[in-house]
This record gives sequence, C-alpha cells and structure tokens, in this order.
Amino acid sequence: MRLAFVICILCYTSDVVRSDNYAKDNNDVEKLFEFVWEALEAIAKFVPLHPDTDLNISQLLNKYGYPFEEHNVTTEDGHILTMHRIAHGRNETITEKKRPVVFMKHCVACSSMIFLYSGPENSLAMLLADQGYDVWLCNTRGNIYTSHTTLDPNKDSDYWDFSFHEKGYYDIPASVDYMLKYTKVDNFTFLGFSQGTTEGLVFTTMRPEYVEKINLMALLSPVAYMGNSSGLIPRLLSENQELIELTFGLLGIHSVPFTPLIPLLGKVFCNDASSVQDVCPLIMDFIVGFDLPQVNKTLLTVFLASSPDGISIKELYHFGQEIRSGYFRQYDYGVGNLIRYGSLEPPSYNVSKITCPVAAYYGKNDFFVATKDVEHLFQQLPNVVVSHLLEYEAFNHLDFVTAIDVKAMVYDMLFETIKKFNPPNKS
Ligand SMILES: *[C@@H]1O[C@H](CO)[C@@H](O)[C@H](O)[C@H]1NC(C)=O
Ligand SMILES: *[C@@H]1O[C@H](CO)[C@@H](O)[C@H](O)[C@H]1NC(C)=O
Ligand SMILES: *[C@@H]1O[C@H](CO)[C@@H](O)[C@H](O)[C@H]1NC(C)=O
Ligand SMILES: *[C@@H]1O[C@H](CO)[C@@H](O)[C@H](O)[C@H]1NC(C)=O
Ligand SMILES: *[C@@H]1O[C@H](CO)[C@@H](O)[C@H](O)[C@H]1NC(C)=O
Ligand SMILES: *[C@@H]1O[C@H](CO)[C@@H](O)[C@H](O)[C@H]1NC(C)=O
Ligand SMILES: *[C@@H]1O[C@H](CO)[C@@H](O)[C@H](O)[C@H]1NC(C)=O
Repeated sequence: MRLAFVICILCYTSDVVRSDNYAKDNNDVEKLFEFVWEALEAIAKFVPLHPDTDLNISQLLNKYGYPFEEHNVTTEDGHILTMHRIAHGRNETITEKKRPVVFMKHCVACSSMIFLYSGPENSLAMLLADQGYDVWLCNTRGNIYTSHTTLDPNKDSDYWDFSFHEKGYYDIPASVDYMLKYTKVDNFTFLGFSQGTTEGLVFTTMRPEYVEKINLMALLSPVAYMGNSSGLIPRLLSENQELIELTFGLLGIHSVPFTPLIPLLGKVFCNDASSVQDVCPLIMDFIVGFDLPQVNKTLLTVFLASSPDGISIKELYHFGQEIRSGYFRQYDYGVGNLIRYGSLEPPSYNVSKITCPVAAYYGKNDFFVATKDVEHLFQQLPNVVVSHLLEYEAFNHLDFVTAIDVKAMVYDMLFETIKKFNPPNKS
C-alpha cells in the first residue's frame, strides 16, 4: 500500500515538473521531457486509433447525428459550469411537444463525456436521447468544462477547496434551476453514476425543496455509506490518510487537474496494435474491480481521451473520512467543526428526506461500493422502487459506463423504470 502510494506521487510530480518546465527557461530536464513528449506524439500519429479518439464532445455528437447544445450557469459561489444538452435523438427534430427530461450527473474525475464516449449503440446519454428524452448533462466544478468568475484553477488553491458536498449543494441546484427554467418541465429524472449519486443525495437532502420535482432518482452504483468498501483506492485512502494529507500538504498539492499526458499515453500504449494493450484494462480493473471480458479494448483510446478529468484532493479526503467513520456525513474539519457546524461531529446527510421514488442498480464486484453499504442506504430511503443487485458476478464499478454488454445487463431495464415514472411522448 505504502509503495503504491509513493509510486502515484512520483508519477504525479513528474507530470507537474514537465508542465511547469514547459513554460520556464530552457534547461536539461525540460529538454528531456520535451523530447519524450514529442517522441510520444510522433508515435501516436502512426498507430491505429479508434476514429472517435480525437473528437471533442460536439464533434462526437454531430458525427452520430445528435444535436449538441451548451449552456453556461454560474453558481452562488462563482463557479461557471457548462452543461451539455442533447435535445433529441438521431434523425429527429424538435417538435412543439415538450420532451421529458433526464438530468445526468457524472462520476468523480469525469465529465459529461463518460456518458457519451462509447457511441450510439452503448452510451447512456445517446440511447436516452433516442428513447425520446431531452438529455441534460451536468458538469461540476473542477473538470475541463468549468471555470470560475475570479479564481484561476492553475494558480489559486481556493478554487479546489471543495468536495462532493459543494457539487451537490451549489452546482446541481444551479444547473437544475437553469434546466427547469429553460425546458419549463414540472419534474425530471435525476440519473447519477458513482460520485454523481453521492452529489444527488447531498442535493436532495440539503435542498429538500427539489425532491418533489424529481419523478425518479436513478442511481448507478450508489456511493453513500462506504465503511465496507475494500478496493485498492478505498484502502489506500483510509489506511494512509494522515500520510497523504501530510505529503500533499507539504507539496502544496490541492488537485489533480485534467492532463493531456493520459490521452497521449493511452494512444501510444492502449491502441489496437500495441503489444502492451492488455496491460491497460488490467491497470483499470486493478482500481475498479476485475472484469476483463467486459472491456472493449478498441475503445480504450477514446475512453482515455477524456478520463480521468480534474479531481480535488479534498474530495478524496472526504471519501477517506466516510470509509473510516462508516457515516454518510459532511466534511470533518476536526476542531473546526464547532465553528462550521456548531457541533463536534459533522452533521449526517439525512437521506430519509428523499421521498421521491429511487431506483438503484449495483454490482457484486465493485471495489468502491460494497453491497452491504448500499443495502444500509436502502434501509433509510423511504421510497425505494427498484433495488437491483446485478446478476453478472464480475460486474465492477466502471462497467456501468464501459461494459460491452452494459445495455443488455443494465440500461434496458433502467429504461423500463424511467419510462414508468417519466414516460416519453413517443410510443
Ligand atoms: C470542437 O472542435 C471544433 C473544431 O476545432 C470546434 O469548432 C468546436 O467549437 C469544438 N467544440 C467544443 C464543444 O469545444
Ligand atoms: C460557455 O463558457 C465557455 C468557457 O467557460 C465558453 O467557451 C463558451 O463560449 C460559453 N458558451 C456559451 C453558450 O456562452
Ligand atoms: C439517420 O440518418 C442517416 C442519414 O440519413 C442514416 O444513415 C442513419 O441510418 C439514420 N439513423 C437512424 C438511427 O435512423
Ligand atoms: C410531472 O409533470 C407532469 C407534467 O406536468 C405531470 O403530469 C406529472 O403528474 C408530474 N409528476 C410528478 C411525479 O410530479
Ligand atoms: C458494513 O455494513 C454493515 C451493514 O450495513 C454495517 O452495519 C457496518 O457498520 C458496516 N461496516 C463499517 C465498517 O462501516
Ligand atoms: C467495441 O467497440 C467498437 C467500436 O465502437 C465496436 O465496433 C465493437 O463491436 C465493440 N466490441 C465488442 C466486442 O462489442
Ligand atoms: C430526518 O428527516 C426526517 C424526515 O424529514 C425527520 O423526521 C427526522 O427527524 C430527521 N432526522 C434528523 C436526525 O434530523
């Protein structure tokens, strides 16, 4: 565990050194990094890549015949977020008839691309648009589709002073308000994946006035209680939290922003002609749970073009606290709790306030989310309409967006549930 942690730090700092030196005066270290970078870029030009690898979000949607819109919102605390909208499916046009809305919230270290990268046959957002929905993809602070009115993510550490709490408390309400005003629908389906579910639970417990506007809350791999999660990252986090806080504190590291290094490494090492391609899914599954047969290797370069996106270190600490304490509650500031919350312990998120229907899907081989913890959450949610433990034994955390057979395994039944609570206009 310690060793894995030290390796992570080394990789990260070498990346920081590279990007720092890029701008500074010439020196040997910079020249070396520049040389390696250019060599990798040159190699990347000659390897067989999936044609979607270098497409941005509008190009990807347009390529497959979907409309693309972007909408900017500013939160109470100054974060500017770009939402992406797919107003209708392929080869359709907007009619005067309102379409029912599905509001989608991505995972940690992700962006709206996570629901799109796998194309029209497999991506949740494109499939929902084809099912007759008006699809809104929310992006929360810290990823490449966000910025700030006064703070600079590259210079101001205050920019990164957030965990999933602020995303649920500020970002989602601002985005939902905008969407409701724009579409004029009375209610919508909230669909979250991974940390997107955590933020959705924070949103509805901290802002209960929105609960009645949610016709269905669909949770893919719900992350709330984490005391039983046993994967590599959760263990690394909970067993080394002091060491991590000390090291990152000394190094002044507050975030891991999106870096073009990963897409480049993805192209060079994970392409279809690469002799080490098999190592790529191995590394991913080491983190999320082993399910190699469900990895579509051809799509790895597309997946890695947009993941991982920006993450704040405070998000990791908050998860670390949840894993250690077993509670689902606000950030623990230690002695600072008294000033912030007026109590020694941070307040818990009271999920019994979430009276809207909740449908949840979870896997048996999810290194982040233990079935015991999900079932603990269900006991407290007053209106669980679907709680589906997926049959496939090896179903892991990322399979909800990456599995080859995800449509048959999850999405088809999810669509049936959404249709029941938020019926599309077309039959
Ligand atoms: C995608 O790239 C195209 C071509 O460079 C550009 O015109 C478009 O604005 C980009 N879309 C987004 C959402 O950045
Ligand atoms: C939204 O903000 C981004 C930058 O944060 C900008 O590039 C884009 O043009 C804005 N889009 C709209 C529709 O205002
Ligand atoms: C959409 O239209 C294009 C071109 O007209 C056609 O090739 C494609 O099959 C259509 N797709 C669907 C889902 O109808
Ligand atoms: C959602 O809004 C529609 C359209 O206004 C309405 O018919 C339906 O009863 C509402 N559903 C809920 C659960 O509020
Ligand atoms: C694991 O889950 C069980 C059942 O919900 C719960 O009682 C227990 O406290 C959890 N363990 C930890 C360490 O949180
Ligand atoms: C993997 O993705 C590619 C590209 O989208 C697709 O053509 C192929 O059928 C997928 N492979 C499997 C095994 O489903
Ligand atoms: C949690 O919310 C429920 C429903 O609103 C309420 O009855 C209960 O008292 C709350 N619990 C706490 C600890 O605040």
